[in-house]
Amino acid sequence: METMTERVAVVTGAGSGIGKALAVAFANEGAKVVLADVEEEALEAARLEVAALGVPALAVKTDVTNSDSVAALCAMTLETFGGVNILCNNAGVGGGGLVKNLQLVDWKWVIDVSLWGVIHGLHHFLPHLIEAEESHVMSTASVAGLMAVPGLAPYNAAKFGVVAVMETLHHEMARDAELDVGVSVLCPGVVKTNIATAQRNRPTHLQRERAKPVSESARAPDEARLRNAAIAAALEKGMAPSDVASQVVDAMYQRRFWVLSHPELLAEVEHRNQQLANLENPTLISSFTD
Ligand SMILES: NC(=O)c1ccc[n+]([C@@H]2O[C@H](COP(=O)([O-])OP(=O)(O)OC[C@H]3O[C@@H](n4cnc5c(N)ncnc54)[C@H](O)[C@@H]3O)[C@@H](O)[C@H]2O)c1
Repeated sequence: METMTERVAVVTGAGSGIGKALAVAFANEGAKVVLADVEEEALEAARLEVAALGVPALAVKTDVTNSDSVAALCAMTLETFGGVNILCNNAGVGGGGLVKNLQLVDWKWVIDVSLWGVIHGLHHFLPHLIEAEESHVMSTASVAGLMAVPGLAPYNAAKFGVVAVMETLHHEMARDAELDVGVSVLCPGVVKTNIATAQRNRPTHLQRERAKPVSESARAPDEARLRNAAIAAALEKGMAPSDVASQVVDAMYQRRFWVLSHPELLAEVEHRNQQLANLENPTLISSFTD
């Protein structure tokens, strides 16, 4: 992408963390920004922050798990700004637990937001990105989309899915001279955001059933609490979201697919790839909490 000035950028999950930092970064580049989030108050606060930078900023309350809601976001964007150049499918939630303790609602919530949110974004926006003079789509995965972190199976599944979808899209764009949409995937390590309290946006119908008083499941809430405390402590020391956002902006200018904010974590990915090439059973070199 040559310039972002006057371009239209849509960011989901823009009320907090990486999404808010992306919205600010696009505004600093002179783009018109559409902020989408399910959390209304945080969304409006983020819109005010972006508008204060002197660019047009539109907030649209959006639930990325709902196709109609993302269709409405797309329609509002086109109606207000006449087109779209940048899409960041960034909204995502983390939730963990050992596979043996997970309930179906745990899988459903995390995959609905973190994978279906990306699919809905692509489905509704891609035709308009293809039509645009210059355009780029980025989806936020995670290093958990490149390595299987114990205790995070639904999140890993969603993020491996996001990487696969974006990599496929990249190949399809590269093969078709008629299609000229830049494609990136963001795979951050630990970033200082509010993701440890992602449960705040968990819908009522996908809440966990109370654990049954049998030994295995009775231990589940403690495990989850300990894991959440460890994750929250790590996030406190995480990278600033603004640093991640500026890497995304650079990748869009340079038309770079991979955006890895923590390249040191590639050692784990290389280890995995090497074991796969040797058909060895997987081991991890990092010490993840489980
Ligand atoms: N923070 C990290 O360490 C980290 C690491 C790797 C990947 N990520 C990914 O970064 C992305 C952004 O997360 P973050 O860390 O900034 O967390 P965050 O909680 O600060 O921000 C996520 C935003 O998504 C919104 N959201 C949640 N459910 C939604 C829904 N159904 N529809 C629309 N919006 C919804 C939340 O309201 C929130 O504003 C996520 O995809 C996450 O998986 C984060």
